[in-house]
Amino acid sequence: MKSQFFSLIIFLAFFLCILAAPPACAPGVRCPPGGMWGQWATFGSTKCTMDCGGCGVLFQTRTCMSSQISGCPCTGDASRYIPCNMQVCKYPAQKSCCPPYLPMVLDGVYTCGPLPKTMRDPGASCCPVGGLWSDYAGYERQGSRWVRTRKCLSAAIDCPCTGDSTESSSNCPCPQPTPDEAKQCTAIPNATPFYFLNLTINHDQCTAALNMVGHNKDPAKSYCNKPTINYPRSFNYVALLIMKEVNGGCVSDDVFDCDNNENTIKHMDATFTCDTNSLKWVYDFTGKQISSYIQGIYKTQT
Ligand SMILES: *[C@@H]1O[C@H](CO)[C@@H](O)[C@H](O)[C@H]1NC(C)=O
Repeated sequence: MKSQFFSLIIFLAFFLCILAAPPACAPGVRCPPGGMWGQWATFGSTKCTMDCGGCGVLFQTRTCMSSQISGCPCTGDASRYIPCNMQVCKYPAQKSCCPPYLPMVLDGVYTCGPLPKTMRDPGASCCPVGGLWSDYAGYERQGSRWVRTRKCLSAAIDCPCTGDSTESSSNCPCPQPTPDEAKQCTAIPNATPFYFLNLTINHDQCTAALNMVGHNKDPAKSYCNKPTINYPRSFNYVALLIMKEVNGGCVSDDVFDCDNNENTIKHMDATFTCDTNSLKWVYDFTGKQISSYIQGIYKTQT
């Protein structure tokens, strides 16, 4: 009998949380005010410590579903104690309800009440129109495609999401960088931005190679002759790569050194690997993410 009543109380709390989906948020409100909490879950023992009167408590916790989304932190408590076994204690118990509860009739049942407000906390003030999606996880290779997925965070409080949970492409998801930012890299001593060529992207591997302009004498197997495209005469040619790093400054790297004996110089491309989370290319030699690059000339001697 007691355990049946206990189940009823738990069921009621469950009912209030699950079936009472919050009303729709105003148009354009992506994050419900106060954030979006998941369901309360009893932590530790789910057995009430006392038989009646709301004298026992259960400890509950919840997690902020929206915390990983910028501009959508939760306010309020992540844990609470709730009373359990709310049925009125029978004679010869000293009191019928433990404070602050009083005997009353709720929904036709003689019980201790009223239920504390936190037991009716819906977890979010409103349902964002279209739901609240998590950010996408990084791309992963699935068969012959690059696929990324996201989760409907608001489904946990019965606010459905619209749209697809996955995105996929046969192309490597890192976009071809433009030279715009690297062209501004004029503070590297003696280095001058000079020539831009797109990456050659391997879409299966999500790697890329940049054919350095110093290679344009390939048939003669002499990579460090003056390139056939025009460049200022006072500069000696070096296969120089000028890059703007993500969250960093301008850097440069001699991909191969033309000051050494030409005959021993190996053909080398600058190579990159796509970071499938940030969708930025990583320069393999330094392991740093770059947002822009351009080939340059380096003044070694006049
Ligand atoms: C370089 O890549 C960009 C972006 O993919 C493309 O729009 C452009 O046409 C490419 N340029 C050349 C010369 O292939």
